[in-house]
Amino acid sequence: MRLQGGAGNQWECLMANEGKVKVIRSIQEMQSIARELRSKGERIGFVPTMGYLHRGHLNLIETARDKADKVVVSIFVNRIQFGPNEDFQRYPHDFDHDLAACEEAGVDYIFYPEEEEMYPKGYSTYINEEACSKRLCGISRPHHFRCVLTVVGKLFNIVQPDFAVFGQKDAQQAAVIKKMAADLHLSIEIIVNRTIREEDGLAMSSRNAYLTSRQREDAGVIYQALQKAKELVDSGIVNTDRVQAETSNILQSKRRLRVIYVEIVNPETMEPIKEIVSGKSLLAVAVWVDEVRLIDNILL
Ligand SMILES: Nc1ncnc2c1ncn2[C@@H]1O[C@H](COP(=O)(O)OP(=O)(O)OP(=O)(O)O)[C@@H](O)[C@H]1O
Ligand SMILES: [Mg+2]
Repeated sequence: MRLQGGAGNQWECLMANEGKVKVIRSIQEMQSIARELRSKGERIGFVPTMGYLHRGHLNLIETARDKADKVVVSIFVNRIQFGPNEDFQRYPHDFDHDLAACEEAGVDYIFYPEEEEMYPKGYSTYINEEACSKRLCGISRPHHFRCVLTVVGKLFNIVQPDFAVFGQKDAQQAAVIKKMAADLHLSIEIIVNRTIREEDGLAMSSRNAYLTSRQREDAGVIYQALQKAKELVDSGIVNTDRVQAETSNILQSKRRLRVIYVEIVNPETMEPIKEIVSGKSLLAVAVWVDEVRLIDNILL
């Protein structure tokens, strides 16, 4: 029998949520769930996100699902990691979509705190990595990684995962987090998954939602430039300047694109390298597509 009216909807809602993903909004509750899971010997896999989930995120969740007993996804748009003139105000949100996607993907818990829960009045402690984080994006976004590490460090203490999964699209972020985990002796394994791409090669990103169809078309050149660079290296060219110049030229062939950086670096330290060593050299790029900032990279 189908119940009528509000009570019926509530009931259906409760039934729909039974045994499925649980949304946790308080730090204390998340910590006590994590403690209980760990005391039962359950392995916790963690995927931190800023929401507006796409196939890149789902790929991270799949890895966590495969290797963990319980999967926690956090959704938190970390205001402090955005610069004063950046896109925090317009960052895309769709919690209902994210909830359905997590349910479909077999997530056990979504940690979805309010900003005041994470940063109560008077908050004043930050985690700063002082080498890797200062290069590439660290130059144009000087406080970004300090605030990323701070939120990730906090989330690690809240979720207490055995491992956490990140994406190679944000290669510098992954490297900085690995460095923090090593330097601070965290007993959390950091897993980095390959970049998931659209059909034309554009790396999936929540920020792609900002692109108009014309900008979206031009953004396709980013992956073409990375692939061209890889072809050059595969054909025997090891000179960093030459490959960087070629990559920049391809990117700049589109009127809407402005290069922020094109650099070939050591994939662990993000230090520039002079000569390309196959499998040990990362070509990382950041561009403006009009007012939308996109990043991508490829291992050469
Ligand atoms: N295309 C992708 N392939 C694999 N992992 C990805 C991809 N895009 C994002 N991720 C990873 O998902 C995690 C959460 O990232 P986030 O929520 O910031 O999404 P995002 O798409 O990077 O959004 P934005 O580009 O707006 O920052 C990070 O570990 C990030 O590296
Ligand atoms: Mg991101």
